[in-house]
Amino acid sequence: MSIRPSVHFAPMELPGKGVLVLFAGEAAGLASSVLPQIGETVARAAASQKFTGKRLATLDILAPAGVDVERILVVGLKGETPLGEEDWLKLGGVVASKTKKAETVTIWCDAADGSLSADAAAGIASGIVLRAYDFDRYKTKKPKKDGEEESADVACAVTLAVADVPAAGTAYELASAVVEGVILARDLVNEPANVLGPIEYVDQINELSAQGIDVEILGEAEMTELKMFALLGVALGSPRGARLAIMRWSGGPEGEAPIAFVGKGVVFDTGGISIKPAGGMEDMKGDMGGSAAVVGLMRALAGRKAKVNVVGIVGLVENAVDGKAQRPGDIVTAMSGTTIEVINTDAEGRLVLADALWYCQDRFQPKFMIDLATLTGAVIVALGNHQAGLFSNNDELSERLHEAGKATGEKVWRLPLGPEYDKLIEGKFADIKNVGSGRAAGSITAAQFLQRFVNDVPWAHLDIAGTAMGSPSNEYNQSWASGFGVRLLNRLVETHYEQK
Ligand code: BES
Ligand code: MN
Ligand code: ZN
Repeated sequence: MSIRPSVHFAPMELPGKGVLVLFAGEAAGLASSVLPQIGETVARAAASQKFTGKRLATLDILAPAGVDVERILVVGLKGETPLGEEDWLKLGGVVASKTKKAETVTIWCDAADGSLSADAAAGIASGIVLRAYDFDRYKTKKPKKDGEEESADVACAVTLAVADVPAAGTAYELASAVVEGVILARDLVNEPANVLGPIEYVDQINELSAQGIDVEILGEAEMTELKMFALLGVALGSPRGARLAIMRWSGGPEGEAPIAFVGKGVVFDTGGISIKPAGGMEDMKGDMGGSAAVVGLMRALAGRKAKVNVVGIVGLVENAVDGKAQRPGDIVTAMSGTTIEVINTDAEGRLVLADALWYCQDRFQPKFMIDLATLTGAVIVALGNHQAGLFSNNDELSERLHEAGKATGEKVWRLPLGPEYDKLIEGKFADIKNVGSGRAAGSITAAQFLQRFVNDVPWAHLDIAGTAMGSPSNEYNQSWASGFGVRLLNRLVETHYEQK
């Protein structure tokens, strides 16, 4: 793993070495707390480099004589919108990217308009750690610094100088639980499928019991007993089995109905007999991105001891192809009793989710279910890599997800459902078929398929095919796998479903 920077909080004292990071608000104004020593130098450098304090802009200067630090990095805060949750991550990411070679970094959490809140400091720290993430465990030669065996590509020791150390420490304890969840999700998605099959995935999920999460695993025998033949059919072409993992975090009142998250965990999607073209197929190691978001979310919620009852369910299979693989035209009966004609074995995610969703509502009667899945290439055609597709039978849940998306930067855009689309999956020989007619509305017909298995429970489906992996890197993510969904759903839960 890439080296994780160590982050701590300290009172506001100017450091004796390293890089000092300052924030500039309006008119590049610095905090009065540092003005006497360096205000003059910064003002002159800002004028000569036309630095105006624009949000995320930076000004890198050599420290003047008489000051102990070596460099001063000024980062702008000024923008059209108020600073929010995602901005702090971005600011942290910018600091990390500009202080790569530094051994010690001190971030002065104060600005002309007053000191930064504990949550802001925790957000900056989170942004630094998320930015530093690099999935390099299979690189045998790490980049070297002169004269050193091996070195980090980010600063190792970061101190945030804050007005209220205990408050920032507490805020960061909660924030870092979420960071751990995001990193876990990224790791799972980045991991190749030869290393992470259904069985190995279960090993990882079992480790969550150390966080106080109750983990239960169903194998083929139990799923056969439950008649989950939609899910099991997908796994037929793989020798690596199928698992359903059920994770429970009980942080809310005993007996209160849980909220539920369900994830598609196809560890690799060859397409099955309806095989995919070779170009880019390697990306299908990430076809378990929905499940990774659920696992990462559970890690986050348990890590910060969220006061809510939560169920996470992930269906883990490999969509491979051998003599036992299911064929186009096969008819399977889902746990709900609905019969499904498998027209295209590459539309496998919905088959996995059909049984996982039905099982979830049947066993837990949740307040709502949200599923996440790298479900369709069509959602990338519609929304690109910047927003996830949102489908729901519930306006309130949709609205809340949309708001959480805006706050976290993990944005979602609602697309329609309706009887006219539902018609497109009517089966010829069975109740329904697993694809629509032609390529039209591919993400919607997939969502219509899922809706057949939610039994009218308030439900939302997030199609994260474009956002879980291969989305453009940004200030706080440089990794192929983004961990999309963890921060979004953590925000949703925290804002609306936790006991205060
Ligand atoms: N896992 C894919 C969807 C996908 C595509 C995810 C690209 C990430 C990037 C899914 O199982 C799939 O193959 N969907 C088909 C559905 C079609 C056969 C109706 C698709 O999108 O082509
Ligand atoms: Mn597929
Ligand atoms: Zn798939």
